[in-house]
Order: sequence, then structure tokens, then C-alpha cells
Amino acid sequence: MNLNIESHPLHDAAAELSYPPSEEFARQANVQDPGIYRAAAADPLEYWAEEARQLHWHKPFTEVFYRDKPHQNEWFRDGELNIAFNCVDRHVLAGLGDRTALLFEGEPGDTRSISYRELHVEVQRAANMLAALGVRQGDRVAIYMPMIPETVVAMLAVARLGAIHSVVFGGFSAESLRARINDAGAKLVITADGGNRKGRITKLKDTVDAALRLDAGEPSPVEHVLVVKRCGNEVTMQEPRDLWWDEEIMTYDAEHRPQAFAAENPLFILYTSGTTGKPKGILHTSGGYLTQAASTMRGVFDLKPETDIYWCTADVGWITGHSYVVYGPLANGATQVIYEGSPDTPDWSRWWQIVEKYGVTILYTAPTAIRAAMRIGRQVAQQHDLSSLRLLGSVGEPINPEAWRWYYEVIGGHRCPIVDTWWQTETGAIMAAPLPGITTLRPGSAQRALPGIYLEVLDDAGESMDPPTGGLLAAVTPWPSMARTIWGDDQRFVETYWERFGDAYFTGDGARFDEEGNLWLLGRVDDVLNVSGHRLSTAEIESALVEHHAVAEAAVIGVPDEATGEAVAAFVILKTQQQLVTPEDAPRQLTQFVAEQIGAIARPKQLLIVPELPKTRSGKIMRRLLRDAAAGKSIGDTTTLADTTVIQVITDQISGR
Ligand code: PRX
Repeated sequence: MNLNIESHPLHDAAAELSYPPSEEFARQANVQDPGIYRAAAADPLEYWAEEARQLHWHKPFTEVFYRDKPHQNEWFRDGELNIAFNCVDRHVLAGLGDRTALLFEGEPGDTRSISYRELHVEVQRAANMLAALGVRQGDRVAIYMPMIPETVVAMLAVARLGAIHSVVFGGFSAESLRARINDAGAKLVITADGGNRKGRITKLKDTVDAALRLDAGEPSPVEHVLVVKRCGNEVTMQEPRDLWWDEEIMTYDAEHRPQAFAAENPLFILYTSGTTGKPKGILHTSGGYLTQAASTMRGVFDLKPETDIYWCTADVGWITGHSYVVYGPLANGATQVIYEGSPDTPDWSRWWQIVEKYGVTILYTAPTAIRAAMRIGRQVAQQHDLSSLRLLGSVGEPINPEAWRWYYEVIGGHRCPIVDTWWQTETGAIMAAPLPGITTLRPGSAQRALPGIYLEVLDDAGESMDPPTGGLLAAVTPWPSMARTIWGDDQRFVETYWERFGDAYFTGDGARFDEEGNLWLLGRVDDVLNVSGHRLSTAEIESALVEHHAVAEAAVIGVPDEATGEAVAAFVILKTQQQLVTPEDAPRQLTQFVAEQIGAIARPKQLLIVPELPKTRSGKIMRRLLRDAAAGKSIGDTTTLADTTVIQVITDQISGR
């Protein structure tokens, strides 16, 4: 465990800055009373029960919380609800059918505006279609899609049936997709012919075909593949397995009666990287998840559904897209922009054009995107009218104060509070963030656990650490949107999150509180990397590398990177007898191989062919030494190394000697 987190360069630079809420913002904020923290602390269960009552329950709950073991938590368990009804039907029933739900902008510039009434029709048709294809409560459906309205419809239709979706990010490779489909046992895959990305077509259906071909000879759980026509690129349709979404859906009725499901009915599986080569299928359930996703939308983003135009730039392939593109906004009846493509297509002004065109009021994005915009220069953003914006959000990694200030000044015009939101795939929804009408902002800090959430910084033995000492971040009480398990692997769930501290949930993050009670995140303390706000596992990339016939051994580390926060660096030992790659060409071929195995996001930025790796006498790779060497730092304590010359050879290689 890397517990070297006592200080962080962010803090010193940020210590001076503080931004209290403007009176104007505070006066109109959804949450204005700082007493909310105290009130929630007095009775956290009642606090969450009240938030849950904002949803529509077919059968109201009487029991708020039930815990069997520390890792077995149930919320609102005797209540029954339908997630899709909450996100769509109830708004139409409340007379809001004409309100725009989705303002879609395709990368090529095509647009669609979809009202709640239209969304209602589509979701009902889709639910009827999926039911006719045999999707029942508890069945798994894989969704491998671009960011288009049908993706949202597909997720809601699956949820409406009480089935479980597993959205796989469209940038993942056939192999990653195959592993996820099979692990979840998905009987249906929903995809598109293609998606538009950087002016090119990402051929999603071809990748689905490749993923299913990888199963050749073995039984695949997949019975059908539904294909949305998005790009019109040629695809091979295999009968009777493959069906066109657009043709099928028209044959179904636009009325579908939503059934009520228990609050703990599983809603989705989302795979995320852990410390082994195998991704974890994080399982979320219904009532608690929707309660917290919806509640944080109101409290943290200060959403006013009648007037706001909200835009979260995340892809639905990640948890941010689940909670803050689909469930949180729609449960509140929000109007939101969804954009299919990349921020630099046709050029870097695209995002700011979108903000201006739709009058976006709330923008939620990642520090890596802000840093990219900074590099392009403020002139590009300033050519657009961004005066509609009133609140900005950040997620995925700590935001460095320089990027924070740029975001505040250039994008927010000194008017918009920035909510830096700390949370994880496992937490399901935001856990720590400012409440923008109350909190004095400290750039770089995720500020404070939300009302009803209790975070502590603990030492290795589980003792609370006094501020400002760094330690391990834990959630010491349960929260409604907490992950319920790892799909098919309860044991791993317990070992990863619950064994270290007994009662408390271990986040995998290092953190510290300052004397004012602000929370500062210090990065992961396990072998998980954060590249552009995306989680990658060193072990997963290492296993991809050793899959290559020329590779004998590989070690992967994260190195600091100005653009992406962290970047992947790999150290590889080639097999002595192999003739597949020359040492000169190996870096190019092997980085490409990783991209093909996992997806382009995992491609190592640096790959070094080395004769040996630094190991302890028991054979464990000393990644700490590799990190120091890669960062050009002097190499620390090497006394436990089996062969101390190894690291010298690597350091010489890095410095080009
Ligand atoms: O290390 C933390 C970092 O991202 C991890 C969670 O990654 P993932 O499950 O992919 O979810 C990302 C979107 C919620 C955390 O363990 N992280 C996330 N948000 C922040 C952050 N680190 C610092 N500040 C944040 N606001």
C-alpha cells in the first residue's frame, strides 16, 4: 500500500483561496440553511427517508434501513417503485409532458429535441419490444452504444422491466466487451451500427460481432443483438440473432404498464477496474440509488427543473453518465443536453458553441477537459456567450487550483460556484461536495461530506486521524446509493471494501481534512490509476501485456501527467527467444496491443523494454521504485531488492544513458 500521502502540491497553492457564495446565488439556492448538516446528523435515516419520499412509490416503505452484516445493507426494503415511472411517466402525469427532456446534438451537427411525452412513448415501446424478446425481471442486458437518445431509452426500458442493464463504454475493445457480457450473462445486447467520434465512425456493431465471435465454440448467453441505426455504415446482420431497433420498435404498442419492483431490485451492473486483472461488476439497486442520485441533483447542482438547461459531458458508459445524465436529472424532470461527440470536433470551440446555442445553465465536466480547454487558450471559449451558465461542476479527480481558477474565471465569468464532487462507481452518487448556496469554496477541495453522509480519515489500523494528517478515506455509515455487491463475487466485495475497517467502507482513496473541516483527496492508495478521470487497473494492463506472445513480464505504473492527471507507463521484459517484435518496434506494437485488448483509454503513454524488473527477494515487483525512476526522483530505499543493480539499469535507460 502506497501511504506516502502526507503532503500534496495542490494544497499549498490553494490554501490562500476561498470563495464564499454570492448573496445572489445564496438567496435563490435550493439549500440555504447551514442547519441542514445538523438536522441530518440528528436523524440520518429520517433525512434519507424524506429524500426518498420525493420519489413516487407504488408501495410506500415503512422500514428505512436494514443491515444484516456491515456489507449487507438494504434501504427502503419493503417499499416498491418503478425506476422508469419515476424518471418519465410521473412527469407526464403531472402535466409536464411538453417539457423538453433531451436536447440531443450529434457530432455531425444533427439535432433532436425530445419532450418528456415523446420519451414516455419511446420508453414504453422499447419496454414492450424488450419484453417480447424475452427480457424479464432480473435478466441482464448489455448496452454498447454511442451517446444518443436511444441509449437513454434503452436503459430506462430495461429498468422499467425490472431487468438489469450493464452499460459498456463504447471505447472498450471486443475482448473487454466479451468479458463483461459473459460475466453478467447478458441475454441481449443493444448497440448501434456506429457512433460519431472525432469526425470518424466508431463501428460499434462490428465490435459486438467480434466480441461474440471470440466466444466461438463456447456457449454464449446472448440470444439477440438489437442494432440502432445511427451512422448508416454497413454492418453484417446475422439472422435470427440480430434485429434492427428502428424496425422492431415500430411494431410495438406505445403503452406499457409499469410494474412495481422492490426497492432492492437490482438496477444495473457497471464494471470498474480494481486491483486485479478482472474488472468488478459493481451492482446497484433501485430505491436507494435513485433517492441519492435525485437528491444530490437538487442539493449539489441546485437544479431548478423549470428553468435550468443542464449538461453533463460524461458518457453513459461511466457512473457519472448513469447517475448524472440518466437517473438524477430525469428523476427530477430536468431538461438536459446530450452531446454525442468529442470536444474538439470540428474544433475546440464545440463545447462553448453548445453552451451558447442551448443556453446551458449548469455544466458538469472533468478537470482533464478543463485543462485541455486551458491549453487551447481562453480566446476560444471567450468567443462564445457563456453568460447563461450559473453553476459549474467537476468530477473524477482532484481539480488543480490553476484549472479551478480558469474554469471559474473564463467559463464561469466569476459568477458561477464550482461544485467539486467526490464519489465513485461504488458510491453510486455524490458523497462529498460543496452545497453551493452555503459553502465557502476552497479550490482543490471536495469540501465536506453531504448531509446524511459521514466520511472519516483513518489510519491503517482504522483509528481516526486528526487534521491535517493524511490517511485512508472511509465512509463510516451506510448511504442509500451504496453498491450492494460485486456481481457474482460477494467475497471480493467483502475483501475489497469491508474487511479493512470492519464496519466502515474503505474507498481506496487517500485523503485528509484540514482544520476548517475541508476534505482534500490525495489520490488512490491501491494499484488503480486515474487517467483523465477514468479508472484503470495496473494489473489489468499488465495481464493484457503478458497476453502478447513476445512478452515475458510486465509492470505498469501511473506517472503524473499534466494533461490527463496520470498516464500509464509500462516496463516490459521480452521473451529471450521470441522473434515477433524487435526491441525498437516493441513499444509501438505493444501499446497498440493494449489498446486492442482493453480499449484506447488504457494505451500506455510510455513503454520501456527492460532486461529485468526490480523485485523483492520474494519476487514481488517494487512499483514504488519504478515510480521514482519514471518521475526522475532519486531512488529511495533499495535494501529489500533482490538485485540492486536492476533499478540502476532502468534509471539509466530512462535518462537515456
Ligand atoms: O480517486 C477518486 C477519484 O475517482 C475515483 C472513482 O473513480 P470512478 O469510480 O471511475 O468514478 C469517477 C466518477 C465519480 C475515486 O476513488 N475521484 C472522483 N471524483 C473525485 C476524485 N478525486 C478527487 N476529487 C474528486 N472530485
